[in-house]
Amino acid sequence: MRAAVFKHLRNNLGEFVSGGEIARALAISRTAVWKHVCALRDEGYQIESRHRYGYRLSEALPDLLIPEEILAGLTTQFCGRCYHYYPSLISTNERAKELAQAGAPEGTTVLAEQQSGGRGRLGRNWYSPSGGLWFSVVLRPVLPQMRAPEATFVAAVAGIEALNGESGGRSSEFGPDQHPVSAIGIKWPNDFVWHGKKLGGILTELSGELDRINYLVIGIGLNVNLAPHDFPTLLRHQVSSLQEILGRPVARGGLLRRYLAALEKWYLVWLEEGFGPVREAWKKGNACLDRPLRVSTPEGELSGRAVDIDRDGALLLETGGDIRRIVTGDLLMGEDIHK
Ligand code: BTN
Repeated sequence: MRAAVFKHLRNNLGEFVSGGEIARALAISRTAVWKHVCALRDEGYQIESRHRYGYRLSEALPDLLIPEEILAGLTTQFCGRCYHYYPSLISTNERAKELAQAGAPEGTTVLAEQQSGGRGRLGRNWYSPSGGLWFSVVLRPVLPQMRAPEATFVAAVAGIEALNGESGGRSSEFGPDQHPVSAIGIKWPNDFVWHGKKLGGILTELSGELDRINYLVIGIGLNVNLAPHDFPTLLRHQVSSLQEILGRPVARGGLLRRYLAALEKWYLVWLEEGFGPVREAWKKGNACLDRPLRVSTPEGELSGRAVDIDRDGALLLETGGDIRRIVTGDLLMGEDIHK
């Protein structure tokens, strides 16, 4: 319903539309309209209300990712504090690695409105037009290199927390588990999926020696305000976007700030308490355990049932009576498979 209220305001961008008119069109009370307007304001939309005129959505939609906008509401101590914004880049991971190499402090964040050479896992391309959230964060954990893969799980858990914030907390239009974002899950190891469609992913890269991580770059890509026609035809049926899920555009700045705050929180949990709590949170948000699937590994394809993730994040696949540890690979799940 909030999306429908937003649509009315959006259709009359910069002009007043009366609360009574919206209420009649949507068959809800004026009080309900007012509550939805309050919730939209909480999300960052500027909506003026004037006696006898109604509500007016400001033409300045709050979708700015410029440093002034992001730093103003940032609640973190270090994640995003050093913030590099680019209208366009080849890849935020590449730029973040250059900065990390030059000594950039922990938490340094690189964001681009669009990427011309965005990279995904396993050497794939990552399609990154404007409207998405494409950013990379430099971290410097004092840990041996073999623990680096755990950082992807830290970022995935933080992502689920940040995305859940999009359900708007106070909103009463959905029950706690009925909101569309509650169906967003993590597909091992690093995909955000919604009803089997890919919503985003994480690419973790590292520089270090055997017993020491020099730096990690966590690259995060989320399809936010993108419509199906924004994607190449071949991808269209495999991907989704937050805008599609929620039926309204999302204020990317708020989402980015929430993501950075959640990333910092889970990163500190990881450093202080180890991988255990991260693993538990990941399992709660997963979209792939306890279901039949196929896994494409460097050694070939395996079919089975994903039963758990190991203490280092490896996938435990039950296949033909054996439990196989999968350290790297791709899960192949049908479109019907969702959380
Ligand atoms: C995957 O699922 O394959 C991982 C995708 C990661 C994409 C992000 S977008 C921001 C950052 N910069 C890149 O070039 N890649 C990551």
